[in-house]
Amino acid sequence: MSALFQPLKIGDLELANRIVVAPMCQYSAVDGSATDWTTIHLGQLAESGAGLLVIEATAVTPEGRITAGDLGLYSDANEAALARVLDAVRPHSTTHIGMQLGHAGRKASSRVPWEGGAQVPLGQPGSWTAVAPSAIPHAAGEDAPVALDAAGLARVRECFAAAARRAARLGLEFLEIHCAHGYLLHEFLSPLSNRREDAYGGSLENRMRFPLEIFDAVRSAFPAGRPVWVRVSATDWVDGGWDVDSTVAFGQALKARGCDALHVSSGGLSPLQAIPLSPGYQVPFAHRVRAETGLPTIAVGLVTEPEQAEAIIAAGDADAVAVARAMLYDPRWPWHAAARLGATVKAPPQYWRSQPREFKTLFDGAAIGQR
Ligand SMILES: Cc1cc2nc3c(=O)[nH]c(=O)nc-3n(C[C@H](O)[C@H](O)[C@H](O)COP(=O)(O)O)c2cc1C
Repeated sequence: MSALFQPLKIGDLELANRIVVAPMCQYSAVDGSATDWTTIHLGQLAESGAGLLVIEATAVTPEGRITAGDLGLYSDANEAALARVLDAVRPHSTTHIGMQLGHAGRKASSRVPWEGGAQVPLGQPGSWTAVAPSAIPHAAGEDAPVALDAAGLARVRECFAAAARRAARLGLEFLEIHCAHGYLLHEFLSPLSNRREDAYGGSLENRMRFPLEIFDAVRSAFPAGRPVWVRVSATDWVDGGWDVDSTVAFGQALKARGCDALHVSSGGLSPLQAIPLSPGYQVPFAHRVRAETGLPTIAVGLVTEPEQAEAIIAAGDADAVAVARAMLYDPRWPWHAAARLGATVKAPPQYWRSQPREFKTLFDGAAIGQR
């Protein structure tokens, strides 16, 4: 009996298995609004058989986009465009679909990755002024962001809440708040990017304050019963930066406020990061966070093989495993995992005839006839 294909409950959400499609920016939106690419992308991933699909980092304000192509949920047009995508995708999928809400902070105003991903210098077409906890650029030589003042903080809080209300209207089943990868909320957490001298900087308690306020704002704007959780970077991989001990403290504070799960990634805050990459390199962080917070925990990062994901769940390192690049490379990753692990998976009836001869019970409930 596969551990990866055991059901899992997060809040009131019942997942058919423990495979999560990780959030993946597509940089293919126009003014924050989803396009046909969004439908193609989410459509194929929603047929993957994964238990959960996290829609890419979605900006709560225009200046909170990483690139001009980022998805947003800050306008009626954004909401309508996403409604069209979801109306197309959802009737054909049993995967639970939710969204990652985020704000790029000082990493905003970047070029899309296939155009190099660098900051668009201020004054050049397509640039805009980024905001952050402190006026410290992400990398030497980059334009510095503007430090948020009290009114700016209040606006960002309200924009997270407004986006959560839009997400609720769209019927999204859960929200993940992006506190990882060096974007705005991670910038508040890390002492490397947060040098504030007010109640939002200095001690760990102060640095956690704004991300926790955002959690509260989103939680209270999203219907009770639909889970809200947080993606964290467990460490900056830089001496003197955000670390695993702080992540555990943050996870415990989130749990006390009703957070339903933690999604444990790492890095992204500093170009000085030194990451010892290896298969499953972030799983030990998930293990520790899970053990010390008691929250359902999603592990992610260089998990490419079904047997590897199976071992992570079987060992109790995490409750679910998110897969990103391997899922783009093979959008049927969960089908192949089910076949390799002797499990069953939901597939759309239109595709049941593809079930390989040697896996007679692979597709849950599959039965086909023909004259
Ligand atoms: C194309 C692409 C886009 C990504 N966009 C996001 C994103 O929107 N939000 C996020 O938290 N992580 C994002 N990530 C990181 C992934 O969610 C994941 O954490 C990372 O790729 C490691 O997992 P993997 O080894 O399975 O690819 C992105 C990764 C890729 C490859």
